[in-house]
Amino acid sequence: MKVVAAVGMQWGDEGKGKIVDILSEFSSVVVRYSGGNNAGHTIRVGNEKIIFGLLPSGILRQSCRCVLGGGMVIDPFILIDEIERVKALGIKADPDRIFVSKSAFVVLPIHKQIDAILEEKRGTEKIGTTKKGIGPVYQDKIGRRGLRMFEIVKGEDILRKKIEVIYDFWKPIFDTFGTKPPKIDEMVENLCAVKGKIAPYLADTVSLIREELIKRSPILLEGAQGTLLDIDYGTYPYVTSSSSSIAGAISGCGIPPHSINEVIGISKAYTTRVGEGPFPTEAEPDISSKIREAGGEYGSMTGRPRRCGWLDIPALKRSIRINGVSLLGLTKLDVLTGFDEIPVCVGYSVNGTITDDFPVYDLENATPVYEKWPGWKENITSIRIYDDLPSNVKKFISNIEAKTETQVGIVSVGPSRNETIMLKNPFR
Ligand code: GDP
Ligand code: IMO
Ligand code: MG
Repeated sequence: MKVVAAVGMQWGDEGKGKIVDILSEFSSVVVRYSGGNNAGHTIRVGNEKIIFGLLPSGILRQSCRCVLGGGMVIDPFILIDEIERVKALGIKADPDRIFVSKSAFVVLPIHKQIDAILEEKRGTEKIGTTKKGIGPVYQDKIGRRGLRMFEIVKGEDILRKKIEVIYDFWKPIFDTFGTKPPKIDEMVENLCAVKGKIAPYLADTVSLIREELIKRSPILLEGAQGTLLDIDYGTYPYVTSSSSSIAGAISGCGIPPHSINEVIGISKAYTTRVGEGPFPTEAEPDISSKIREAGGEYGSMTGRPRRCGWLDIPALKRSIRINGVSLLGLTKLDVLTGFDEIPVCVGYSVNGTITDDFPVYDLENATPVYEKWPGWKENITSIRIYDDLPSNVKKFISNIEAKTETQVGIVSVGPSRNETIMLKNPFR
């Protein structure tokens, strides 16, 4: 039985939710390892479209246990809301199915306000964050003053003391900007009011995962965001504040690195980015909006239009190497239907020198070098057998395999569960 990690290869929204939902059929446990509800993971079953920010995308499979790992940052009110939404779908969402790490950090209203203030302060240099408080809560974590999930149930006095420390740290920023911080009393009272709902879900998830490893259960680790948004390996400072790469899976689950057998890298057949920051293969506005409309490229949680452009092979190769990707999951091929030719970035010209590498330290001087791969006109959404794909789709896929030296194991041709061609199941 295997442990498989699903990691985003680009700037997020690669279709991780869909792929994790499919793979969770073969796993007994799905662990979300990092981030918070800056993520929006979409699952489509029939006509139903379900988006989760916190719950692992295995939640719709009743047989699957879902873990929110210690690397996550959790807004308890969003968590309760998502659990209620699952129950409303008629799916079991009890504490014997959902396990929230006691170690995960709590997102407070103060973090969301600070996120908005810091963005405003940056002016034209803004990151374009989701304003869910993610940066500030991870700052509190690293600054060793954060509030952890288990402390919600430790009693009002402990909670108040911890929140006071966080409040005192951020207060000068509120003062400088003339904005009122949320009241300490309110934050404490509101958390105390929901602690009864949260407490049953709290667990020592490191022990739980260890027991599952001993039992040799199939386990799926679900990443949020993507490698280009990783705090260490992304396009810093235009990144999120957590380790979205495989390193985050190890620290965020508390799982030994050697226990991970396969890393499936999820990539779109093109590229999108939401928020600010470099995006060398971003298409001209008319093409970008054509892709956006065809692919429904609007933020799952924020509704912001996503910037759209072409597949970036050097960036993909870099993400594959950083994460030790053994298999690719290629999504949204159907969205490229209709183009005569599809530009694909295969290298960069940096100050006149051509390179195959993603010039992460010199992006302002980098110009993509494109190849034009032949397009296709056929609707491919109903195709379920690889050989039935138009020859130019197969060529597109095999070109990616050749350039990245990595096998494509899953091909996604539409948003629904069944709109998928599984060439190699990473659990088998
Ligand atoms: P995630 O954050 O990586 O889980 O991705 P999101 O859910 O934010 O965004 C991916 C979007 O693409 C969602 O609306 C999915 O329903 C949709 N999607 C996923 N795979 C495919 C596909 O192969 N084709 C099409 N057309 N849509 C897809
Ligand atoms: P999923 O898991 C796409 C982006 C934001 C912004 C930057 C920092 O759905 O792929 P943050 O709020 O994290 O401080 O914002 O990161 N971002 C995402 N973009 N998908 C996501 O998650 C993202 N999570 C954060 O748009 O540019
Ligand atoms: Mg998303």
